[in-house]
Order: sequence, then C-alpha cells, then structure tokens
Amino acid sequence: MNICKTIAQARATHETFGHGRKTLGLVPTMGALHEGHLSLVREAKAQCDVVAVSIFVNPTQFGPNEDFSKYPRTFESDCALLDKEHVDLLFAPSVEEMYPRNAVTYVTVEGLSEKLDGRSRPGHFRGVTTVVAKLFHVVEPDKAFFGQKDAAQCAIIRRMVRDLSLPVEIVVCPIVREPDGLAMSSRNAYLSPQQRKSALVLRRSLLEIEELFKQGERSPEKLTVAGKKIFSAEPSVRLDYVEIVDPDSLDRVSEISRPALVAVAAYVGPTRLIDNVVLEPVVAES
Ligand code: PAJ
Repeated sequence: MNICKTIAQARATHETFGHGRKTLGLVPTMGALHEGHLSLVREAKAQCDVVAVSIFVNPTQFGPNEDFSKYPRTFESDCALLDKEHVDLLFAPSVEEMYPRNAVTYVTVEGLSEKLDGRSRPGHFRGVTTVVAKLFHVVEPDKAFFGQKDAAQCAIIRRMVRDLSLPVEIVVCPIVREPDGLAMSSRNAYLSPQQRKSALVLRRSLLEIEELFKQGERSPEKLTVAGKKIFSAEPSVRLDYVEIVDPDSLDRVSEISRPALVAVAAYVGPTRLIDNVVLEPVVAES
C-alpha cells in the first residue's frame, strides 16, 4: 500500500495508476477503522480496479465544543487493516496540508446542510462538503463510497456532486451493525459498558417505528411519537431528534407514499450517536 501524506505525493501516485483505463474508487474516512469502514473498502474493491482510502480527522466539521481533539486516532492499526484489504493508496494528510493557513473557501450545500445533524451541529456539513470536494480534487476517483449510516451526509454529497457536475459516482453501502444491533461507529469506543447498553435505545426506537409501519401505520407524526416514547424509557439517553424525511431533500414528509428516511440522533452521556432506517412502502403493481 502506498501511503501518501501530501497532495503532491497523492497526485504523483495517481499518475502511476494509468488513469483513464482503470477505475479508481475512493473511500473517505476519519480513521479509527471498523467493519463499517471495511465494508466500504470491500465494495470499492469489488467495483473498481484501484482503491484509495483517505484518513483525515477533519477539523472544519467539528464544532468548538465537540470531540475533535479526543477523536480516536489509531493510524498504525488502521494501516494494518487496509493493508490486509489490499488497498492501493492511503492518503493521510496533516491539517496543514489540507488547509493552507488562512483558508477561507468553503463548499456549502445550502438548505440541506441546516437539516437533521446540521441543526444541532451548525457548520458540520459545510466542513464535510468542503473536505470531500477537496478529496475528490486530489484523488480524482471515478466512484466514491459512503455509508448509509450517515444518511444525511450521503444526501448532501449527492446534491453537491450533482450541483457542481463533479465527475464522480456516489455509491452508498448498507449500515454495518454489532451483533446486538448497535450501528458501528468510531465513537462507540467512548461508551462505558453501561452506556453501551443504553445506546441500544436508538435501534429499539427505529425497530418500533419499522414494526408499526409494517402493521400499516402511515402517519409520520404517529410513528415519530412512538419512536420518542421508546426513548422516554431510557432517561440516561438524551434524544436530539427522531425525524421522518425525504431521503433526497431531507424535508419532513407529511405522508409515506415513497421511501422515507427515519433518522435518529441522541446523546449517550456526552457521546452523540446517530442511526436510521428507510421505510419502503410497497407500491401496488398496475
Ligand atoms: P467516518 O465517520 O470515519 O466514516 C467514513 C465512512 O464510513 C462514511 O461514509 C460513513 O457513513 C461510513 N460508516 C461509518 N460507520 C458505518 C457503518 N456502521 N456501516 C456502514 N458505513 C459506515 O463520515 C465521515 O467519516 C466523514 O464525515 C468524512 C466523509 C470522511 C468527511 O470527513
């Protein structure tokens, strides 16, 4: 695996791949890799000739009181995992390399960036789209792989790619879960054994909503209320939101006649976790 720490090195390595003949897949990450990340790498390997992964804990997507400085950094073990997956290129720049001093240029997907996590984490999605646009320019992938775990992030990146006519295909991969249903996340490492148990309330709430939906409930309001009720049985967890939205516009829906995204975010102690499920109404055949 070729490890590049500078933009110049990454571009030079890219040249050696014979771009134009081989397809290049990119998996952007912030490291502290787990099976969720590795599932994206495997999908990229399956779909592309050459696979690049980026590891960069991106300061612009963290708020001033968030966990940027204590975000887990496990570079050595991440490299070993990526080596085992036969990744071709690892781009792992420093903050100074990615953001020249006094950088003031951002990419903002207006409107969408203020919804869901964007409401509780102002500026978060602006940081995500800026760094992802930059990674796309450095690595120039044909396809980029993202996880459904961060469904709002996927919608916003898809919109950025469309609006800016970026020549990259966005591939969204399913959520990978722990055996008990908790969505894998680098932030799960923060949880105490007690908090780890409490964190399952996110999944329970989504399963309750999914079950009621299967039984025929179609009112987003009633489904949301039922999801919130599950949280009231777990007072140690502070709910941020349960929302049922259109998966592309992230607008709240008033009825579920097309696939709808149920997104949930909650604080388990100081740790913010998110999860989601898509409700798919069966369309009657004509
Ligand atoms: P990070 O949280 O490291 O996640 C990197 C990628 O892995 C994202 O596309 C995320 O959705 C995916 N992922 C995380 N947990 C997953 C799981 N349990 N199942 C499937 N996929 C999962 O998301 C980011 O980093 C950053 O915002 C980034 C896009 C790299 C920009 O800085």
